[in-house]
Amino acid sequence: MMVKKFLIGVASAGMALTLAACAGGGAGESSDDASSTSGATGGSEPVAEGGLVGVAMPTQTSERWIADGEAVESGLMELGYEVDLQFANDDIPTQANQIDQMITNGADALIIASIDGTALASQLAAAAAADIPVIAYDRLIRDSENVDFYVTFDNYNVGVQQATSLLVGLGLLNQDGSEGDATGPFNIELFAGSLDDNNAHFFYAGAMDTLQPYIDEGTLTVPSGQTDIEQTNILRWQQETAQKRMEDLLTSTYTGTDTELHGVLSPYDGLSRGIITALQNAGFGTTVADGLPVVTGQDAEIASVKLIADGTQFATIFKDTRKLAAQAITATDAYLAGGEPEANDTETYDNGVKVVPSYLLESDIVYADNIQSLLVDSGYWTEAEVESGVAE
Ligand code: BGC
Repeated sequence: MMVKKFLIGVASAGMALTLAACAGGGAGESSDDASSTSGATGGSEPVAEGGLVGVAMPTQTSERWIADGEAVESGLMELGYEVDLQFANDDIPTQANQIDQMITNGADALIIASIDGTALASQLAAAAAADIPVIAYDRLIRDSENVDFYVTFDNYNVGVQQATSLLVGLGLLNQDGSEGDATGPFNIELFAGSLDDNNAHFFYAGAMDTLQPYIDEGTLTVPSGQTDIEQTNILRWQQETAQKRMEDLLTSTYTGTDTELHGVLSPYDGLSRGIITALQNAGFGTTVADGLPVVTGQDAEIASVKLIADGTQFATIFKDTRKLAAQAITATDAYLAGGEPEANDTETYDNGVKVVPSYLLESDIVYADNIQSLLVDSGYWTEAEVESGVAE
């Protein structure tokens, strides 16, 4: 089902490419719709001329990267490209070797979702020397001149949405953004992603900018005192590490005291499930209705979507990987047709050496009551998958 679903998503991207080319190309000004394309500028329209594209993904332990990899691969193949798709088990030397190999094998373009955004300098220099365009996929590659384009979501806004969903769960806000009935004060704990992933910093900045006014006025308190990303980050986004940190926080700050815990900011569904396990094991209840703190998330992973439907996890952020894959394909095709992809942001993503032209997509907050409209009606997950919590 996964594979079929992504083929459908990418088929429509491919069709849109063809249509855009017929219409003179250069769509993409329109929207972040899956069927939109940034097209090529510079006089040439995207034409499938074949070639080899290396696609480097970080890991298969999270379903989103498998979906991303499959969607990019099948969409490129549909346009007549050969694809070398590799996953690196979250191991930096493995990813570096895979990219070296892609260059040696004659890749004409590289699409890279990095593990450590600063660790690929020599690979990128080799790519530049061989005139191979490099597209950073979802995660910015830092500290290098040799990154040509970046496709991603509005990562700061993802963080704002994560914090907003926490405020909604606590009753301080309503889903429409208006003020909620609750007044607090509430106790929360904070988690951030992996420090070597540039996105983790954007998510946390967006979330903290949103929560800070509530902390300043005393509506929210962080009883552990751990608010700095140096204290809250989880290396490589590991679920077990998040579970362990939550257990440690309970022991140090909550167990045997009368301090209550009402909410936890979590930036990724895998971490959320580790946090929820720690809370459930400590006797907080199985659902929010029976005492489990409000826990946020990201990625709309199927196991978490089921937990949201069950009232266990409170929310997640849906980033449609089909749309991201479609943008990566459009950008690759633009380069290989001799043009340039069209950016919709040329200011935000400074990688330490230059501002990388970017194409940003929008994301949505998923609550129990919009799973159907956001995830099922769009064909991302089926009703049966939401019910079972397993991708078919
Ligand atoms: C991605 C998130 C993902 C996280 C962990 C980030 O770079 O943007 O969607 O949850 O990595 O895989």
